[in-house]
Amino acid sequence: MFILGLESSCDETSAAVLEMDEAAGIRRIASNVVASQIDIHSLYGGVVPEIASRAHIEAVSSITYRALEEAGVTIDDIGAVAVTTHPGLIGALLVGVNFAKSLAFSHHIPLVSVNHVHGHVSAALLSDPMLKPPFLALVVSGGHTSLYAVDDFTTYRTLGSTRDDAAGEAFDKIARVIGMPYPGGAALDKLAYEGNPKAFVLPSPAFPGAGFDFSFSGLKTAALNLINSASQRGETINRADLAAAYTAKIVRGIADKTAAALAETGAETLVIGGGVAANSHLRSALQKVCDDAGVRFSLPPISLCGDNAAMIAAAGYYEFLAGATADTSLNAYATDDVE
Ligand code: KG4
Ligand code: ZN
Repeated sequence: MFILGLESSCDETSAAVLEMDEAAGIRRIASNVVASQIDIHSLYGGVVPEIASRAHIEAVSSITYRALEEAGVTIDDIGAVAVTTHPGLIGALLVGVNFAKSLAFSHHIPLVSVNHVHGHVSAALLSDPMLKPPFLALVVSGGHTSLYAVDDFTTYRTLGSTRDDAAGEAFDKIARVIGMPYPGGAALDKLAYEGNPKAFVLPSPAFPGAGFDFSFSGLKTAALNLINSASQRGETINRADLAAAYTAKIVRGIADKTAAALAETGAETLVIGGGVAANSHLRSALQKVCDDAGVRFSLPPISLCGDNAAMIAAAGYYEFLAGATADTSLNAYATDDVE
């Protein structure tokens, strides 16, 4: 069947068409159109929710039309519409949800609600056709840092998550303070290769204790303090050294918690997803964790790490197979605690 996915939870408007047939082993991305609003938000150093909602409204119809056209299908070929309903910016989510509802109900197509974070996990299903649950999933993005035990395609158990900022926010904040345009995560990734990771002592984001929670605010504050103290002394901090030390701490903290979660759950596969899963240092650290533990590592290509509708359609397909279709009361929610 063909499934149309729609994503508008933050600053990307995206529509995608997948051809999916689990019994026949078909998971094909027929189109995946992403309209990024980054150029607009970078003027303000971060996402401005009201501007995001308006930009989604302007883009959603034409992006959807393009996704159908690029896939070579019409709306009549679509067997289900999957839309991100939570978590995210509420005004932004409502644009996608209302558009999906109108489209689905006017064409008598089943509608499916998708959790954005489960979408990030599902990106790996598209790049790894053999991938099947159970597995351990790590989502690291601008808004989320979570570890899940994924028991089947629609059953996610949260093992741990961030108690404050997400990994992406932590990267973006320091990148911005040292003069990089929003979102600075990818630029910081590159700069980290030029510095000495041992140049500064910083706290770990792995929340102490036996659980699998993270906390990035202490690390972020410690890095800000280093920058501010240097500037009070009239000095400029070595940006590359800071990028290297900061990245090393984030990567080590995430890799250690992930290794502990693999050991505790006995998972045989690790899946990662989310914008920060594009981080090259994190990818290689997690590859090593998996090699050491004899665990299969499934990581999506960079193009499927950031927000996109193909991952939403993939998650939605399995929700659809499980019979989880929505009615006209479908709504959007900013938080994750609606399930
Ligand atoms: O998943 P995503 O597109 O949006 C959310 O759902 O939040 O993630 C965006 C985040 C931003 O914080 C961005 O800086 C970060 O992913 N990011 C990176 C890299 N590429 C994108 N962070 C670190 N290293 C990268 N290479
Ligand atoms: Zn995301």
